[in-house]
Amino acid sequence: MSLPGKRDSFGSKFGIIAAAAGSAVGLGNIWKFPYITGQNGGGAFLLIYLLCVLLLGVPVMISEFTIGRSGKRNVFGSFKSLAPDSPWYFVGIMGVVAAFVILSFYSAVAGWTLEYIVKSLTIGFGNQSTGELSKAFSSFLAHPLRPVIWQLLFMLLTALIVVGGIKNGIERYNKFLMPILVFFLLLLCVRSVTLPGSEKGLSFLFKPDFSRVNIKTILFAMGQAFFSLSLGMGALITYASYFRKTDNLGRTAMTVSLADTMIAILAGVVIFPAVFSFNIEPTAGPSLVFITLPEIFSHLPLGNLFGLVFFILLAVAALTSTVSVLEVVVAYFSEELGISRKKATVLASVSISILGIFASLSFGPLSSFKLFGKSIFDLLDFIASNILLPGGGLLIVIFVGWYLNGKFVLNEVSNSGELKVKYFPVYLFIVRFIAPVAIAAIFIYSVFYGSLG
Ligand code: TRP
Repeated sequence: MSLPGKRDSFGSKFGIIAAAAGSAVGLGNIWKFPYITGQNGGGAFLLIYLLCVLLLGVPVMISEFTIGRSGKRNVFGSFKSLAPDSPWYFVGIMGVVAAFVILSFYSAVAGWTLEYIVKSLTIGFGNQSTGELSKAFSSFLAHPLRPVIWQLLFMLLTALIVVGGIKNGIERYNKFLMPILVFFLLLLCVRSVTLPGSEKGLSFLFKPDFSRVNIKTILFAMGQAFFSLSLGMGALITYASYFRKTDNLGRTAMTVSLADTMIAILAGVVIFPAVFSFNIEPTAGPSLVFITLPEIFSHLPLGNLFGLVFFILLAVAALTSTVSVLEVVVAYFSEELGISRKKATVLASVSISILGIFASLSFGPLSSFKLFGKSIFDLLDFIASNILLPGGGLLIVIFVGWYLNGKFVLNEVSNSGELKVKYFPVYLFIVRFIAPVAIAAIFIYSVFYGSLG
């Protein structure tokens, strides 16, 4: 089944952090987090989100790392090697399916960022009213070819990185792209907080207003924490299978979660002060980044330059995430079908792109085609974000908390006793009792009551 010979691995601590944070930091942080925060009351949502990351996100991430590094294979193979002769490999299959589905719609939105990079370089955003900007966005989406071409180009970029392998592809590009991302983000933060009237935006983001909080807000925050940290489908199981025996799983999970959360907050610091400074409603929803922000760029001195920086930032964030999702499928194909990485990359990216084209076209020529009352894009998003990710996350914590032996897990997170893991009892308690209940709540709610975002 698996290929004989030496498995690729990461070469440095920074490479691991950059790659795992690269997976986590994506459209979820810079596109979704600000608009979900905007719609759910700002500061209060942020506070609940932080609790979800700490109490749920970090333990689930450690669990994924544990499965991957001890399983030493792709997500399917890792379950198969840790639980031979049992149906647990099914969780691995779910992960591969989730990766396939997520990439098909995620690459569509990622492609839009390329259109907007070109827009900032060519016609720019100047002198256009909100009506015009919003019409430009919807006519771009309705175009039968443009979004598809950008999406395919984005898939090609992703495939070119993945085909290079771990050390020479994924690690190398993340080490280079993540610092650029942080630099661009800080640059935009400085611009935004120095706008007149920016304090209102900051107080919206940081001052909690608990009157807007209800059970739905909490479930939303948990769902968003899951998606943002790339949990639930084995992206981090796959990456962890390339970690070295000396890497500290607990510390890596903390660092990556902290980085992901900081970047989401900084994205909020870029967006809300600007939104308030120009008296725009912060609750615009998914169009916040593609209509509201261009409106701000159109009024700003050097607006096209800041627009360019912003959309490059968004594209880079998306690219380091799509790479991690494609790697799940590529590792599975190459190890389980016994084919070369090159063949596996072509097979995975072509087949995902075919499904992806339908996701893209569902904003245009296929917009009237509905299944279960949803467009193809929304249906794929729903299946992945509301069923496969929470379902996978639930099974992952049950697997680590109840199927694997506690001593085995301790041995893995402590690097065979090399590290002192003081928090271990707390970790085990969360993974056994708190996480399954919390994730089951998100799962049930999101399956029965529709989209959590
Ligand atoms: N976390 C990424 C984001 O915030 C998206 C992503 C990458 C993802 N890999 C994932 C989401 C795996 C869920 C599962 O945009």
